[in-house]
Amino acid sequence: MRNTYDVIVVGGGIIGSSVAFQQAKIGKSVLIIEKNEFGMEASQAAAGMLGAQAEIDKNDALLKLALKSRALFPRLVMELEELTGIQAGLVNKGMLKIAQCPDEVHELKKQVQYHAEWDPEVRWLDMNELLQQEPALSSHLAGAMFIPNDGQVMAPQLSQAFYQGALTQGADSIANCEVEEILSTGTHIRGVQTSQNNYFADTVVIASGAWAGKLLYRSGICMDIIPVKGECFSVIPDEPIIKSTIFSPRGCYAVPKKDGRIIVGATTYPGRVDKSVSLNGISHLSEKVLAFLPELKEATWEKAWAGIRPQTRDGLPYIGAHPEYQGLFIAAGHYRNGILLSPITGQIVSDMIENKLTEEERILYETFKIERQTMTAD
Ligand code: FAD
Ligand code: GLY
Repeated sequence: MRNTYDVIVVGGGIIGSSVAFQQAKIGKSVLIIEKNEFGMEASQAAAGMLGAQAEIDKNDALLKLALKSRALFPRLVMELEELTGIQAGLVNKGMLKIAQCPDEVHELKKQVQYHAEWDPEVRWLDMNELLQQEPALSSHLAGAMFIPNDGQVMAPQLSQAFYQGALTQGADSIANCEVEEILSTGTHIRGVQTSQNNYFADTVVIASGAWAGKLLYRSGICMDIIPVKGECFSVIPDEPIIKSTIFSPRGCYAVPKKDGRIIVGATTYPGRVDKSVSLNGISHLSEKVLAFLPELKEATWEKAWAGIRPQTRDGLPYIGAHPEYQGLFIAAGHYRNGILLSPITGQIVSDMIENKLTEEERILYETFKIERQTMTAD
């Protein structure tokens, strides 16, 4: 195997694989290095919601990014399926963000207003309309914000599709190989030192999720990425009981997957990096989901799991070139929306490497630039 490439991508989750796919597609020689197996961390744990409007209601730039990304899914999923045969299970049946008390009605109606200014399809459903649309929901709810264009995918499959897609375009990959240091001569990137060998490239992309801060720090670059553990479980109802994803602002959602399972998520434990699943976490989630979807209690248990979300101090991902090291790019910190943001992140990073962002894109992506928080570690 060669040891010199155009581009080395560190981290084989959905973000690294998406960047690798875009770079390999334009003919770059790409190596993706993963410390475990490909796509087995956060990207494997995600519920797969494409919740641009359900999850984002404060930061305009993040919302714009998410909407751009959401719009890329139909074509991309088809392209990846043609290349790899992997079906990512894209479902476009919308999301219902439910209210369970008057305060939540008030808050959600504000969100409807925020989104409806530019998307008239987002609307408030009263209880009659809600139960007509989703009869299995509890009659004790207080209405819901309907978001027809927030879809969902099967996250592990999409992550594998990006990875396999990159390989079909000629990328090389190494699993079970940890990147230990980023190699540079002065401020010019040269490659990486790993647990196995040194590999060389003028461009290195750090896409190592919740572990990106640790790797960068070891290389003398200080960047906060906070791990936030989340637990989910899945059940299989005898027949479909909901069509849309049901999203409660109380920290619980139910996502009806294309294959008939319902994924229920997710807990949040900041600072935790273990992937154990606690009975406490699962019982809290069960209590919350049964309060809005009582019929789920008849469904057959499948399994439970946990993953580590990569969060940042300001809640925005880092996407861009490092200001001091030429050839070093970072794509990490996608927190709760890395599946949703995977298509656009791959495209932006690839366009940044090629230096072909439009002026409009450059301005939009300023919000996510690296230097908003980093400094060189002493
Ligand atoms: P990861 O998938 O964690 O990949 C990073 C990879 O880098 C890992 O495979 C790791 O082993 C590797 N790595 C780390 N350090 C090194 C090193 N030094 N050398 C080599 N490799 C290294 N997002 C959504 O959009 N929708 C959802 O519905 C959703 N639900 C979620 C539910 C849960 C329970 C969780 C935990 C997350 C959810 N997310 C969701 C968030 C989403 O999963 C993440 O934002 C996304 O997976 C991050 O992708 P990543 O590639 O950056 O990280
Ligand atoms: N986006 C859902 C989660 O992170 O749990």
